[in-house]
This record gives sequence, C-alpha cells and structure tokens, in this order.
Amino acid sequence: MKNKEVVAKTVFDVVKDDLTLEQVEQLLEYPKSAEHGDVAFPAFSLAKIYRKAPQQIVSDLAEKIDDASFEKIAPVGPYLNFFMDKKKVSHDILTTVIEQGAHYGDFNLGNNDNVPIDMSSPNIAKPISMGHLRSTVIGNSIALILQKVGYHPIKINHLGDWGTQFGKLIIAYKRWGTEEEVRNDPIGELLRLYVKFHEEAEEDPSLEEEGRAAFRQLENDDQEAVSLWQWFRSESLKEFDKIYDMLGITFDSYKGEAFYEDKMDEIVKLLEEKHLLKEDQGAEIVDLSAYGLNPALIKKRDGGTLYITRDMAAALYRKRTYNFAKSLYVVGNEQSYHFKQLKATLKEMGYNWADDIQHIPFGLITKDGKKLSTRKGQIVLLEDVLNDAIRSAQEQITEKNPSLENKEEVAKQVGVGAVIFHDLKTDRLNTFDFTLDEVVRFEGETGPYVQYTYARAMSILRKVNFVPDKTKNYALDDIESWEIVKFIQDYPEMILEAANKYEPSVVAKHAIKLAQAFNKYYGNTRVLADDGQQEARLALVYVVTVLLKEDLHLLGLQAPDRM
Ligand code: ARG
Repeated sequence: MKNKEVVAKTVFDVVKDDLTLEQVEQLLEYPKSAEHGDVAFPAFSLAKIYRKAPQQIVSDLAEKIDDASFEKIAPVGPYLNFFMDKKKVSHDILTTVIEQGAHYGDFNLGNNDNVPIDMSSPNIAKPISMGHLRSTVIGNSIALILQKVGYHPIKINHLGDWGTQFGKLIIAYKRWGTEEEVRNDPIGELLRLYVKFHEEAEEDPSLEEEGRAAFRQLENDDQEAVSLWQWFRSESLKEFDKIYDMLGITFDSYKGEAFYEDKMDEIVKLLEEKHLLKEDQGAEIVDLSAYGLNPALIKKRDGGTLYITRDMAAALYRKRTYNFAKSLYVVGNEQSYHFKQLKATLKEMGYNWADDIQHIPFGLITKDGKKLSTRKGQIVLLEDVLNDAIRSAQEQITEKNPSLENKEEVAKQVGVGAVIFHDLKTDRLNTFDFTLDEVVRFEGETGPYVQYTYARAMSILRKVNFVPDKTKNYALDDIESWEIVKFIQDYPEMILEAANKYEPSVVAKHAIKLAQAFNKYYGNTRVLADDGQQEARLALVYVVTVLLKEDLHLLGLQAPDRM
C-alpha cells in the first residue's frame, strides 16, 4: 500500500463521521522537506466543520490516532505530519520486488485485448528517415509498455509501397536505370532515380502523365510493372531490415498500403450505399463539414485512389482481423489532419469503433540544427547515424574499461541504445535536435548513463556474490536509502502514467532520476561496510538493478552487465 493510502486509512478511522476516505486522501500532501515527514494532513477543512482552530484539531487528532504503525506522528501548526515506519515500508517493498522481479509494476488493465500499433511505416525506395526512426522506437516502446499493463500489442509496419510515385519510379528506371546499379545500392540508386525524375519532369511535364499511366498499369496488374515494383519492394525491405536488426525491433505484420489495393472497392461501395459519396469536379469526396473538416478526397478524377482510401480499408481490415480495443497510429504530427479526417469519415459510415482509433503524434527531429527532407537529397541516413553512435561508444568504452571482454557487442548495445534513449527521453511532441556527442555521453541524461549505472550496481552485487532472498528480513531506516525506497514505491504509478499517456518519456525520465538517486546513494553510503546492515543495502542495490533493467527494457534498450 502506498504511504498516502496508509495515512488516509489511519486518519479516516477517527474522522469517519465528517469526511469520506476519498476526501481524506485528497487532502493529504507530501511535505516539501523530509524533516516534516512523508505525508501531511492539513486540518483546514475540519476546522470549518468543527468551528475550531486548525492547531486545536491537529492536537486532538494526534491524541486519538493509533500511531503504532508509524515512526512518529507530529503536529506542526495546522498540519499533522506522519513519518512512515521506514523499516517496515522498506522491508515490504524490497520483499515485493524480490518476489515479483521484472513483473513488479505489471497490471491487468487490458484483458489481453488486441491493440494494433501502426509504426515505422517507411516508404519503399527511399531511405528510412529520422522521422521514421522516431515512429519505430516510440511505437516499439509503447508496445512494450502496453504489454506490461496487460494488452496484446500488434506491431504493424504499414509500408508506403503504393501510389503514383511508384509509377514514376518505374518510368525513371526504364529510362535511366540499370539492374546492376540498383543491385549494388538499392535505396541509393532508387532515390537517385526518383530525384532525377522530378528534375527531368520540370523540363518535360509530360513525364508526370507517363508516371501516372505507369501506376495505373501497376494497379491493373500489368506483369512488367508488377515485377519491377516487387523487386523495388524486396530490395528496399532488405535494407530496412538491416536497420531494424540493429535496433533490435521486430514487427508482427508488414502489410503495407499495396495490400489494400483490392480492399478499397468495398470502401467505395459502402460509402455509396450510405449516400456519403459526392462528386466534386469529377472526383469523389466525403463531406466532413459536420466535423469542421475539409472534405476527404476518396477517389481522384482519373479514378486513382488515395492514401486516405487505403487507410480506411486498413482500419476496417484491422477491426475485422483483430477486433481491437484500441488502434494506434504512431505518426508525425504533420499528419494530424489526415487522421482527423480518417476518424471522421469512419464515424460518418456509422462505425463507432472509430472512437478507438488514436493518432499518437510526435514532433519533428532535426540533425545538427537542420531540417530533413528527401526531395532535396538532404537525407540523413539512419544507418550512418547508428554506426557513428556505435563508434563513439566503442571509443569511450576502450578508454574507460580497456580490458572489457565483449567490447564490440557492448558498444553496439550502448551506441544504438544511446540513439533510442535520446529519442524517447523528451515528451514525444517536443521537437529536438540530434547531435551525436550529446547523445552518446556517459554522463548527463543519456542512455549510456543509465546503462552505466546499471552495470556499476551489478558489479557491486558481483563482488560479494549477492543472492537476494525474499524470506530474509531486509529493512533499512537511514535517510539516504529512504529516498530510493520512495522511488521504488512510486514505480507502478509511473508505469500507469506512461501507459495512459502513451509516453515512453515518462519511463525514460524515471530511469534517469533513479540512476541519479542511486549514484548519490552510492556516493554517500558505504554499501559494503560490515555493520550488520550490509545485506539489506545489497538488497536495495539489487532492487535498483531490477527496476533500471526493466526501464531500459521498456524503452527497447539492452542492459549490459559490464561496461
Ligand atoms: N508511409 C507514411 C509516411 O512515411 C506513414 C504511414 C503511416 N501510417 C498510416 N497508416 N498512414 O509518411
């Protein structure tokens, strides 16, 4: 039980006639300074009811309350301050975590219901951008957090593998490309062809129509077009998988936009049946003015379908396939309008489950102060970013711990982890800059700092071969360890907050704070002193390793035992 709950019950026992348990709990405060105890009850509300001075009420309460389960209860002015029994609380929490291990902080909120998470979803024939990295790591962490609170996440890579651009790419390849060049450097070459197409089309606008025609051929199953497209797709996927491997992230489905090509007719038919489709200058639209939104363009004048049409088919497919409790889309906030239109259109169709669709937006990421874009060829390759980070980690490890055995493996875990952590540590909607040196530092609010703290704690446990034992009476009552004990108590609540807000940053911030608190503790306390309390302190260190490791896991980072 949390400290506030314990105090609330105690106070409630003596004020039952005047306040409810909830009222008491709401009145309770956490005193700013530790000398005023752990929880305080302000007597102002009771003063109004009893028409007495708050000071008087506080001392009356102090007399009536049973203080057996507290270290001390002290009236100070209008407050009654409660000092928790540190030994009891620390014993309870240490035993609980030793017993539950990584399952500490698990919940069963989700009933194991399915939650598809649309994440990563890069466009084939183009490099994965920093924006796709954000979607990938945020989506992965949300999946892990939702799993911890009892949902069954389904990670879907909704590949951008369909649309007019692939008609253009086919034309560009046929005019200026060779098989060999594509094989040598698939994404680089396909990107070059795509950029070239746009340059040439500025001189010769008829190319645009040629591109559209090629896409229509693709939609009509033209053999040559289809096999070129398949080839571009599989070469692209090979490249994407290299990066997913480095990140250690897997998907449950790679059904991209093309998968919905034959599922859009049904959407158009349903819209017609419901009389929702309107003609507008030859195109088909759905009026969304009732939602304060611009109309959704469902079918172009030339009969071509659009991004949103495919997303409608995908939404319906996911509902039918997974009967989801929620359906999440981790996509940059520049697509917010699209998702508003998507939800509104489904709602117009009478699908109440549209309310369970949720766009999880995130802010833009810049590198060294620069915006990123594909067209201008200013792309930052994610693979390069990760490799640079690994190299930087390796240099630092070699300097700090030259004799470390599996240096390369650890450097990978630290370098890649640093990039992931940096991406997750601020509120997802924030925009932020990426500068390699800041990201891979071993000090400050970084992934390597948390990993390093974990490894340090592990080395203490190794030194004495500590094995936790839940039947032992570990208990601590010093003020230094108490700070950490309170952290451990708040852990489940932190998990709930992260899950409710879909915010990995809540976990990342917790990891940093816990690491800082632990380093402070370790700096001020002789953990291995031989004073009869050594085992209890080691149990505390052990519990810190459990939580740090679980935090890292929930963010998608590895926790190397040595660094
Ligand atoms: N491929 C798109 C892009 O790179 C993201 C797709 C997001 N998912 C979706 N269901 N619309 O912009």
